[in-house]
Amino acid sequence: MGEKSLVSIADYTKEDILRILKLAEKFDRQPNQNLLEGKVCATLFFEPSTRTRLSFETAVNRLGGRIIGFSDASTTSSTKGETLKDTIMMVSNYADLIIMRHHLEGAARYASEISPVPIINAGDGANQHPTQTLLDIYSIYKTQKKLENLNITIVGDLKYGRTVHSLINGMSHFNPTFHFVAPEELRLPSTYKNFCDEQHIKYSEQTDFTSEVLNQTDILYMTRVQRERFTDLMEYEKVKNVYILRKDMLDGTKNNLRILHPLPRVNEIQQDVDDSPKAYYFQQAGNGLYARQAVICDLLNINVD
Ligand code: CP
Repeated sequence: MGEKSLVSIADYTKEDILRILKLAEKFDRQPNQNLLEGKVCATLFFEPSTRTRLSFETAVNRLGGRIIGFSDASTTSSTKGETLKDTIMMVSNYADLIIMRHHLEGAARYASEISPVPIINAGDGANQHPTQTLLDIYSIYKTQKKLENLNITIVGDLKYGRTVHSLINGMSHFNPTFHFVAPEELRLPSTYKNFCDEQHIKYSEQTDFTSEVLNQTDILYMTRVQRERFTDLMEYEKVKNVYILRKDMLDGTKNNLRILHPLPRVNEIQQDVDDSPKAYYFQQAGNGLYARQAVICDLLNINVD
C-alpha cells in the first residue's frame, strides 16, 4: 500500500545494504538514542523465536519506542479463525511498524501488500530472513574488514534454511565464492543455484565437509538441520547429525576464518569450539541489535545523525 517494507533481501540493492551497514555502525557505537519517541512497533510471532524477537524488542526499547505484540499465536484470535489479513489490518490501527514471523512462505509479502504500515519479515517459512542477512553481512564486515572476494562455506540444511537463501542473495553483490556443503536430501534448491549462475557467482557443491574446503574458507556459516521443516521425522533422523564441527577441525584453517551460525545450535558445533577466537556466533547475534535498529529507523524515515 505504498509503505516501504523489508520482505526479501533480494529487494535491496547493494547501496541499500551498505546504507544499513553504515547505520548499524552508528548504533554499534551508541545503541541508546531517543529516536522512536511516540512510536509503537508490533512484533507478531506466529513461529517460535529467541534472538529475532528479543533483539527487535531491545532495538525498539533502546531507541525509546514502545512494543506491543505476541510471541505465541495460540493466545490470539487466529485460533478462532481470524485471517492474517484481518490481523494485519487490526494491528496497523495500533502500530507504526509491524515485525512478523510466519510459518508460511510468502506471508510477509502478502502482509506488505495489504498493510498501511511497513512490514519487516522476521522469517517466512523456508523462504527468507532478511534482517538475519543484514546482521550476517554486518558481522562479515566487522570480522573481515571487507565484503568483496570472500570464500564463504555454508554447511547443513541448505534446502529449508531461510538464512542461507537470504545470505546468498545478500552477498551476491560482493563477488563471493560459495562452497555449499549439504547431504543429498538437503541440497540447495536449484532456484538459488540458477541465481548464482545468472549473477556469475562461483560455487561448488559437496556432501563431504572436508579440510580441503575448510582450509580455504574465510567465513564458515554453519546451520542447524531444522526438525520443524520435516513432514517425515524418519528423514530428519537420517540427516540430523550429518555435520558436526569439532575444535580440532580448525587446525590448518586461515587466521581470518570466522565461524557464524544464525542459531539456535543443536549439536552441529561442539561446545568447546565456543572458546576458539574463530567462533563468532554469539557476537553475531549481538550485532542483530544494531542491524535491526538500523532497519527500523530506515523504514520509518528516522534521521540518524
Ligand atoms: N536466528 C534466528 O532467527 O533465531 P531465532 O529463531 O531464535 O529468532
